[in-house]
Amino acid sequence: MAGQLLSAVSDYASIPESYVRPESQRPRLNEVIRGANVPTIDLGSGDEPQIIAQVADACRSFGFFQVVNHGVPLESMQKMMAVASEFFRLPHEEKAKHYSDDPAKKMRLSTSFNIRKETVRNWRDYLRLHCYPLEEFVPGWPSNPASFRDVVSTYCREVRRLGFRILRAISLSLELEEGYMAKVLGEQEQHMAVNYYPKCPEPELTYGLQAHTDPNALTILLQDPNVAGLQVLKDGKWIAVNPQPDALVINIGDQLQALSNGRYRSVWHRAVVNSDRERISVASFLCPCNSVVINPPEKLVGDGDRPVYRTYTYEEYYKKFWSRNLDDDHCLELFES
Ligand code: OGA
Ligand code: NI
Repeated sequence: MAGQLLSAVSDYASIPESYVRPESQRPRLNEVIRGANVPTIDLGSGDEPQIIAQVADACRSFGFFQVVNHGVPLESMQKMMAVASEFFRLPHEEKAKHYSDDPAKKMRLSTSFNIRKETVRNWRDYLRLHCYPLEEFVPGWPSNPASFRDVVSTYCREVRRLGFRILRAISLSLELEEGYMAKVLGEQEQHMAVNYYPKCPEPELTYGLQAHTDPNALTILLQDPNVAGLQVLKDGKWIAVNPQPDALVINIGDQLQALSNGRYRSVWHRAVVNSDRERISVASFLCPCNSVVINPPEKLVGDGDRPVYRTYTYEEYYKKFWSRNLDDDHCLELFES
C-alpha cells in the first residue's frame, strides 16, 4: 500500500511509534566523530602506483573512500540529484503507481528497508531500479519527470565505467591481474537506490537507514552536497562521511570482502536524519551475475589454509540477504567456512 510511504504525509510533528528504536539502539548523534573523514583519492593524479596504494590502504582500513577526478561529469551528478529531488516532489498519487514492497521487483518505489521482515521502520522512501542492460530496463522506469530516463541512463553509464576502473585498481592492489575482479564477477547487474530521507522531527530516535553492509560487490554513492547523513563504523566508533560536492563515495560490498578472503572489508554503515533538511542520496550497486561462484583466488588463501568463507553463488547470498532483517549480524558470517 502506497500509504506506507513517508512522503504520503507532508509534515510530521512527531515520529510514529513504528519508527522509534529501543533506547539501546538509538543513533547517539552526539557521540559521532565529525572531524575525521574517510580517505579521498584523486583518480586523476596520473600517479598510478600511488592511487593503487591508496586504494589498498582505504579498502583494508575503512572499506570506504571518496574519489575525485573520477570521470563522472559534475553536470551529470547535479542533474541526477535534481531529477531525484523532482521525482520525490511529485504528487503522492503519481508516485503511488510505482509502490511495491516486493524485493524481487526490478523497478519499485518503497519505504524503510524491507517492511515484510523488519520490526522497526527507517525514515526513508526509496526508488529502486535495475540499470543493466539499460535497453532492457529503461522502458519500465518512471516517465515523470520527463527527463528522468535520459538523465538517469546517462548517469548509470558513467558510473558503471567508474565502477570498472575501481575494480581494476582493486585487482591490482591485491596483486592480481588488472581484469581479475571484473572477470570473476561475470556480466554484472547494476542496481540503483534513490534514497529520500524527509526531514525528521525526532532524529535521535530513529535512522534514515539502520546499520548494514552492502550485499553486492561495489557501491558508488552520490551524496547530497549540502546535507550530511552517511556514517561508517571504524574501531567501534561512528564517523560522519562529510559530503564533498565533486566527490563520489565508494564502498566495498560483501562480495569483495569474500573474494579478497577477508583482506578488504565490507564495513557497517548507516544514514541518519535531521530535523532541518531533507536529504537525497543515490546509491549505484555493481552486483555479481547471479550464477557466479564466489571463491577467493588461491593466491589470497595462505598455504594449507582454508578460505575464510565457503563457496557459494551470488544468487544464494542475495536470497539470504533479503530474507533477513538488517538488524541481524553481518550476512557474510553465515557463509564462514
Ligand atoms: C545504501 C546506503 C547510505 C546513504 O543505500 O545502501 O548505504 O547515505 N545509503 O544514503
Ligand atoms: Ni549501504
